[in-house]
Amino acid sequence: MTILVTGGAGFIGSNFVLEWLAGSDEAVVNLDALTYAGNLENLAAVHSEKRHIFVHGDIGNFDLVSQLLAEYQPRAILNFAAESHVDRSIHGPEDFIQTNIVGTFRLLEAVRAYWSKLEGEAKSQFRFLHVSTDEVYGFLNKEDPAFKENNRYEPSSPYSASKAASDHLVRAYHHTYGLPVLTTNCSNNYGPYHFPEKLIPLSIHNALAGKPLPIYGDGQQIRDWLYVKDHCSAIRRVLEAGRVGETYNVGGWNEKANLEVVDTLCAILDQLSPRADGKSYKEQITFVTDRPGHDRRYAIDASKLERELGWKPAESFETGIRKTVEWYLENHAWVANVTSGHYRQWVDQNYGERS
Ligand code: NAD
Ligand code: DAU
Repeated sequence: MTILVTGGAGFIGSNFVLEWLAGSDEAVVNLDALTYAGNLENLAAVHSEKRHIFVHGDIGNFDLVSQLLAEYQPRAILNFAAESHVDRSIHGPEDFIQTNIVGTFRLLEAVRAYWSKLEGEAKSQFRFLHVSTDEVYGFLNKEDPAFKENNRYEPSSPYSASKAASDHLVRAYHHTYGLPVLTTNCSNNYGPYHFPEKLIPLSIHNALAGKPLPIYGDGQQIRDWLYVKDHCSAIRRVLEAGRVGETYNVGGWNEKANLEVVDTLCAILDQLSPRADGKSYKEQITFVTDRPGHDRRYAIDASKLERELGWKPAESFETGIRKTVEWYLENHAWVANVTSGHYRQWVDQNYGERS
């Protein structure tokens, strides 16, 4: 048996592939375009593993995807591939439209053609699992209840709008063609192999490099944090037992304001890798111009997943964030490699224009 994972060289996809190969006998075909966010170093541990078949390519390449499906006959597709960074979607939305909308559409077309020719159990047991985000639901005010699966879609950034469009396409392929799809909408992830353009890895990297820790606006925006391996376990559980056509929200009930998250990171770093001058890393916190259209609060109600499929996160925010800081302290070479070259241009572009 084989599964096809897309975007498996990115942050969540690579964590998923590593855990899958460690915990199952099934092979993984890993299709990834290796954009700036894709990194084969994340997969170094499975470099010589025969059950990991890496294919450098685009989910929007219908011919390539069709050929892979015909050759490997996967029993499931897990679609992680996407442009994922909100700030980049504000600077340049085009790639988000191409990959998240057009790419998902072409992938669905290739999968539909493949699935429609399957027979018997191969057809009835086949699954297409689409990995999506809580950002499709828009933002919450302080007193609003957390997002449920039946919340309205109200995306507010080019990134979330493109993910919302892809979710709609996935569901339309179920409703119209009967394709057996599952969708997961997860809150903010953190953990190993997180690219340092996102708040948590950027703050750890900048702290250790003696650079400012940029907080957008007043730092009171709230995100709901989930350790990446808990997201992966939720995806495995939904793949195994999720009801076809259903959506499952994934989250760890860990709402935190951004400033609180960065304060926590500083406190852990103060213990594990104190500054030479004895001062706290908090001294490096710098308030900068806000993100345009910045969503104030996200919060996920994961009770459907917990109730129906018995899933629970293994990590609390406190245990997960400590493990994450430890991972970055132990993986200097990984950080040094991903923060060279184009990364610096991005930092200049994104932070250079903020006062
Ligand atoms: P990431 O940016 O770290 O990785 C994306 C991966 O997709 C990269 O390896 C990249 O090379 C690949 N990719 C991009 N365009 C491609 C294309 N056209 N064809 C093939 N591969 C392509 O993203 P991530 O944080 O790992 O997120 C993975 C998925 O999970 C995304 O769909 C994202 O929307 C969703 N998600 C992320 C979070 C989060 O907090 N990071 C939370 C909820 C949902
Ligand atoms: O909610 C799920 C989403 O979480 C995923 O769908 C996205 O792919 C993922 O990138 C993430 O989006 P966010 O925009 O919430 O993540 P980011 O790490 O970019 O920002 C987290 C919060 O921190 C957000 O309120 C903006 C703020 N921030 C971010 C950066 C990079 C800062 O204050 N300073 C920064 O330098």
